[in-house]
Parts: sequence; structure tokens; C-alpha cells
Amino acid sequence: MKILAIGDVVSQSGCDFLRDNLHSIKSKHNIKMVIANGENASIGNGILPSSMKHLLDSGVDIITTGNHVFKRREIYNSLDTQQNIIRPANYPDSCPGKGFSIIDFGNIKVAVINILGTAFMENVNCPFYTIDNILKKIDTKIIVIDFHAEATGEKAAFGHYLDGKVSCVFGTHTHVQTADEKILPKGTAYISDIGMVGSKYSALGINPQNIIKKMKFHLPVRFEILESDIELNSIIIDIDENTGKAIDIKRLNIS
Ligand SMILES: [Fe+2]
Ligand SMILES: [Fe+2]
Repeated sequence: MKILAIGDVVSQSGCDFLRDNLHSIKSKHNIKMVIANGENASIGNGILPSSMKHLLDSGVDIITTGNHVFKRREIYNSLDTQQNIIRPANYPDSCPGKGFSIIDFGNIKVAVINILGTAFMENVNCPFYTIDNILKKIDTKIIVIDFHAEATGEKAAFGHYLDGKVSCVFGTHTHVQTADEKILPKGTAYISDIGMVGSKYSALGINPQNIIKKMKFHLPVRFEILESDIELNSIIIDIDENTGKAIDIKRLNIS
């Protein structure tokens, strides 16, 4: 089966790009399932119920998130009650939501797990112990992980740790796609970061002039999302339904 995984969808223009293009991408590439990271889907970061609905209505099957997930209180109830939105599993149990979900396509089930990195990120529970505990509870053949993390070294180590145990480990959070996609020796597809859906001429979706001003003058600056020249960064993973191992991983970028 082919799974499309889409990087951090930034703001209204990122959501609109998916509404306009996702259905044709799915049919053109014979995609069975779509995963999208929605932690920046709402204006001002985080995700609101309206942007969650926008993504799901556009053809996304499950939304993963990251360090911005709890920014908007309005989403907490959806995190607790909806099966198609998850938050990093290594936040404390007291936080809203859950860290993995199993999507049932009738003849096949796919587990999607969201984990937060710890290098240059929040001081959450250890990703390695967290994933060990989750994998004990899951018996689906196909398991896909969104590792939302900053450091490429941590991401690569996590990918190798899970080689042969899951179908795919892809990274999110940096909003910059890496070119290191590969199938690891024991059959796990891996890429350090799949990128974003946002403006091609931005700094991670933000107007670069705002960032330059902030870095040069060190005074507070209001960040403005750039809404033009939207580019979609994603990957297509082809997974053997009988073994759960990856057959292929390739990057798909559309602007
Ligand atoms: Fe993000
Ligand atoms: Fe993030």
C-alpha cells in the first residue's frame, strides 16, 4: 500500500493548498492513506478544530502534531475524543490526547505513532523507552512513526533503533526537507525530515524579513505568515501489506 506523508501544514494557505490539490495527488499516485502534520495548521500556530476539519475534509486520514499541539485550548476535546488526530506520545499522561492511533481500512490496519525528540526540544519522556512501551501494545503489521524533532543526529539514531520493528520513521518539525530518504537494512523506510506545506520563499513559513529583523535587532517582532508561492513537501512510502516492510520511499514536492 502507498502512504503519502505530508510535512507541517502551515496556516490557512497550507490548508487551502491541500484542499485544492490533495485529491488529484492521491489518484495520480494511487495513494491509500494520507498522514499530515498539522501542528501549524492554524493562523498563529497550533491547530484549531476548524483547521483539523479542513485537513480531514481535504483527504487527510490522520493528523500528527508536535511541540505546538497544546497551544490552542479549543483542540483539547478533539485530541481526547477523535481517532484521527494524535499528539506526541512522550508528553505526560495528564496531557490531552493520545500518542498513537490505529486506522482501520477493513482488510488492513495501520498504526501511526507521534513522538517528540528531546535534543533542543522540550524535556519530555525519553523517546526510546516511550516507543518500546507502545510497540508492546500494537500488533498491526504496518506501523508508521512521525518523529517530530530538531536534531538530525537524534532522528537518524531513532530511525536505526527502529529498523526492522516498524514500516517507516519520518521526521517533521524543521519545515525543511532532507534528501536522505532510504530503506534501512532491516526494511524500515527512513527520512530525517519531510518538510512543510508553506511558502517557498519564507523562513519556515514566516516572512523572512521578520526573522532578519528579530535576529539583527533583537527586539520583539510580530511574525507574519507568507501566504504566496506555496510548496508542498511530502513523501510516498510503499509498504508490503504482508510483511509490513517498506518497498520504496520517495520524495514528492509540488508547487
Ligand atoms: Fe512545525
Ligand atoms: Fe514543531
